[in-house]
Amino acid sequence: MVGDAAKGEAVFAKCKACHTIDQGGANGIGPNLFGVHGEAVAGDRGGYAFSDALKGKGGTWDDATLDAWLKNPKAFAAGTKMTFAGITDDQQRADVIAYLKSKK
Ligand code: HEC
Repeated sequence: MVGDAAKGEAVFAKCKACHTIDQGGANGIGPNLFGVHGEAVAGDRGGYAFSDALKGKGGTWDDATLDAWLKNPKAFAAGTKMTFAGITDDQQRADVIAYLKSKK
């Protein structure tokens, strides 16, 4: 599914309670997400303390892993501290992933 980064910016409003996305943005409840697409899952995000659940996953954030994570965080990494229900709408997930990709 092809995502639209401009629409994804609006979807990202759901994420802003916990995440910044601009380069050098602060970590909050969740880590800053600048450049996260293409990076290691639970890699170094300015010293952010990830859960053991996410650290144990391994792998890289790409279109497929981000799609699975954002659909259902707890199914992707049981025990994650990202207390976000997920986005059920396939198009909205594609859009927000396109937005994440545009921020690098
Ligand atoms: C209620 C707070 C909250 C909301 C809302 C939230 N997140 Fe998170 N997010 C977290 C936390 C906490 C973590 C760290 C999870 C862990 O360590 O288990 C995280 C981790 C992540 C990661 C992994 C980063 C990495 O470097 O491995 C991504 C990607 C992510 N969130 C994207 C999103 C997106 C996109 C949204 C909106 C659609 C969102 N999150 C909404 C709290 C939140």
